[in-house]
Amino acid sequence: MRNVIKFDFKTYVNNFVDDDNMNKILNRKAEIYNKFNNATMIGWTEEFNKRLLEDILNLRDYIKNNYDCLVILGIGGSFLGSYALKNMFTKYFSDNSFEVIYAGCDLSSKYLSELIEYLDNKNFAVNVISKSGTTMETMIAYDALKQLIRKKYNSEEIKNRIIITTDESVGKLREEVIENDYKSFIIPSNIGGRYSLITAAHLLPLSFFLDINNLVTGFYDGLSLTDEAYNYACIRRCFFDLGKYVENFCVFEPNMSYYTEWLKQLFGETEGKEKRGIFPVSTLYTRDLHSLGQFIQEGNPIIFETFIKVLNTKNFYVNDKNLNNLNGIVLDSVVNAHYSGGVACNIIEIDEINEMNIGKLCAFFMLSAAYSGYLFDVDPFNQPGVEVYKKFIRDNLDHFKVDNRNDY
Ligand code: PA5
Repeated sequence: MRNVIKFDFKTYVNNFVDDDNMNKILNRKAEIYNKFNNATMIGWTEEFNKRLLEDILNLRDYIKNNYDCLVILGIGGSFLGSYALKNMFTKYFSDNSFEVIYAGCDLSSKYLSELIEYLDNKNFAVNVISKSGTTMETMIAYDALKQLIRKKYNSEEIKNRIIITTDESVGKLREEVIENDYKSFIIPSNIGGRYSLITAAHLLPLSFFLDINNLVTGFYDGLSLTDEAYNYACIRRCFFDLGKYVENFCVFEPNMSYYTEWLKQLFGETEGKEKRGIFPVSTLYTRDLHSLGQFIQEGNPIIFETFIKVLNTKNFYVNDKNLNNLNGIVLDSVVNAHYSGGVACNIIEIDEINEMNIGKLCAFFMLSAAYSGYLFDVDPFNQPGVEVYKKFIRDNLDHFKVDNRNDY
């Protein structure tokens, strides 16, 4: 498995960097590392318990041997990582692999009702993932699936079909595990949702699609990229000081679209507080060159871009042209064009999508997001804004209950 990752935060950036400011930011390194190393929520940098992988792989085999499909319920940090990587590691068209369905990440009654209808004739298990055990979207989907499970199976069967991944000791889901003796996994209390990629929250779902051993190895390898991650955080901070308030994550492979969703949550929730932070957006090129390309090239100059370049996807020839190479040429051309239009472009290059590279890349981005939060002088590991919205919903639901509407 080739394992190469390269960073270019210079070639298409230099014209825009204010050297004095950049040096000032770079010089905060000792302070930022010190804050990071003393943070309580960096459980994801601690030694990995290999036993967890064994437990996950055994359960995966049990599920595959006994059921037709697994339904994963979760949202935000309990969803995006595994969904993003699932997309990158599976074929675009049906590959006859074991069926894994995701739900609980919105409130679509059409989706949920059609899912229940679909599952009626399926032999399925469910993995509900929520650190808090209280998130409305996840819990509603879980309630709906529980109703179906209870209708279809006896209590002994139910016990084997529900797997709960949640906090070790607090929350409604943990209580359910204890009451019913359900199979469960822990999201450690010192790891927040968007930093939970290398926990059972994502590793169990991902065990159906990729080699989680290599992913974990790549991730821990990537934790050594501290200086690269810090440089990236500094460049971004520098751009922000120049009025570049929007970072556009650019990919050229449709199966990476959800990877940029994961990045958007990682950076958005980490930095976006106390009226600070860079607003993360994403584009899938070449598709979006035909829609947003105009704005990026010539519009309001508040954007900088970070390209994730995958050198080798798949060789496929059309009229003697290698499409993989063509995509690479187009990427370089877009970078040159945007740079000429005043848009700074970071380039992160991997030679191919494999578990080691992606594990490493994820570690790099997680380190960088955390450093970046500290460079913005905010707490990288909380998300008070998400809690505000959750509280408004709870209050409004209570209000409806007063009006005798207990049905959500
Ligand atoms: O990053 C976060 O903490 C949030 O986005 C959560 O992951 C999201 O709200 C889901 O929370 P929970 O896992 O508690 O259901």
